[in-house]
Amino acid sequence: MSEERALVAVVGAGTMGAGIAQVALEGGWRVALVDAQPGATDRARARIREGLARRAAKAGIDTDTLDDWIEDRLAHLSTPGSVGTAVADVQLAIEAIVEDLEAKRRLFGQLSDAAGEEVILATNTSALSVTDIAEAASRPERVVGLHFFNPAPVLPLVEVVAGRRTAAWAAERAAGIVEGWDKAPIRVADSPGFIVNRVNRPFTLEPLRLLRSGAGTIDSIDAAMTGAGFPMGPFALMDLIGIDVNLAAARGLFEASGRPPRFRPSPIQEELVAAGRLGRKAGEGFYRYVDGRSTGAAPRFVGVIRHGPGAPAPLDAETIAERVILAIVNEAFRALGDGIAEEQDIDRAMRLGANHPFGPFEWVARSGTHEVVVMLDALSDEDADTFRPALALLRRARSGG
Ligand code: NAI
Repeated sequence: MSEERALVAVVGAGTMGAGIAQVALEGGWRVALVDAQPGATDRARARIREGLARRAAKAGIDTDTLDDWIEDRLAHLSTPGSVGTAVADVQLAIEAIVEDLEAKRRLFGQLSDAAGEEVILATNTSALSVTDIAEAASRPERVVGLHFFNPAPVLPLVEVVAGRRTAAWAAERAAGIVEGWDKAPIRVADSPGFIVNRVNRPFTLEPLRLLRSGAGTIDSIDAAMTGAGFPMGPFALMDLIGIDVNLAAARGLFEASGRPPRFRPSPIQEELVAAGRLGRKAGEGFYRYVDGRSTGAAPRFVGVIRHGPGAPAPLDAETIAERVILAIVNEAFRALGDGIAEEQDIDRAMRLGANHPFGPFEWVARSGTHEVVVMLDALSDEDADTFRPALALLRRARSGG
């Protein structure tokens, strides 16, 4: 049977590479996993084994057959010693190495030389330009972005990114392959943050601005967002993913978008990272953790948050949630206006990639376009960069949509 299975090479056996390899193995493919660092593929194999065991347990696979189920899949994982060997006979190669443009460009040069002409070359970059990476390949038309989310075996969304020179057939084939792995591919043009990292940026930045202004507390803002149906509050979420990781993503988007003030990272994030308060993994971030459990909000960040006379009155939960959602909605309309993705795709990406209870356009359809413009207008007196209604939204309101 094994000869009939298609083969994918995954280059980079870290968090994402191991996760993607597991996804492909579960999807019935053979995987050739390579890494530059000695021992990395052994560690990845161990992680994939644990990951498969978790998936099998969730799927209700009998404990008697569990080991066989896992070993059957792992039997299709190979760990060749070089990229050249790994990409011989593959249909697809996915790069998941360090997030560094020059390193990725070097690798794509190598992949171009070693892989057959029709092989799709994909990058899992979350913040670099797919177009810039593709230029290092001999045939940039076959280079696509396949942006998986962490943890890859669990989250269904894969953003399929077309660079400036990506051929339609290449994006289509890549989307078809990940769909066969039971993922939800969503098409997006090559632009900073793609869909989720851009449209969801206000989910953390707006709460940070509210916290800084004194209009809300860590607890009140988190409670407002979970009360509005979001699975986690923004501060609990930042603690979970790591405040350093969140800050790096915020910085990346800010720089790649030409430093618009609405994407400027918060001084609160900078201060916490400088103090080593990185979230759950450090035992303290916005909350304090003992044995992995939150023991409540950590002491206030003196000097950053405005208190006392002149500070705004605390906002109620509904106003907080509405304000954060409006910032997301406005960004979604900007992304739509920039032509990066279709409306339904943005909605789906936000539900699947960010676990939002509804897509931004669904929320507008429910609330009324005109009403949303009025709400944004009211807030833009305070913060025009974030809330000045996007042109695509104004156009829709004018056309009565
Ligand atoms: P990681 O640091 O866990 O793993 C990177 C691996 O690549 C390491 O094992 C390293 O030894 C290896 N490597 C570095 N240069 C190499 C080369 N030239 N050839 C072969 N192997 C090489 O990194 P992680 O988190 O897995 O990220 C990988 C990529 O995925 C990055 O581009 C990142 O931006 C992207 N990404 C990360 C997500 C995350 O949440 N961690 C989510 C989505 C995308």
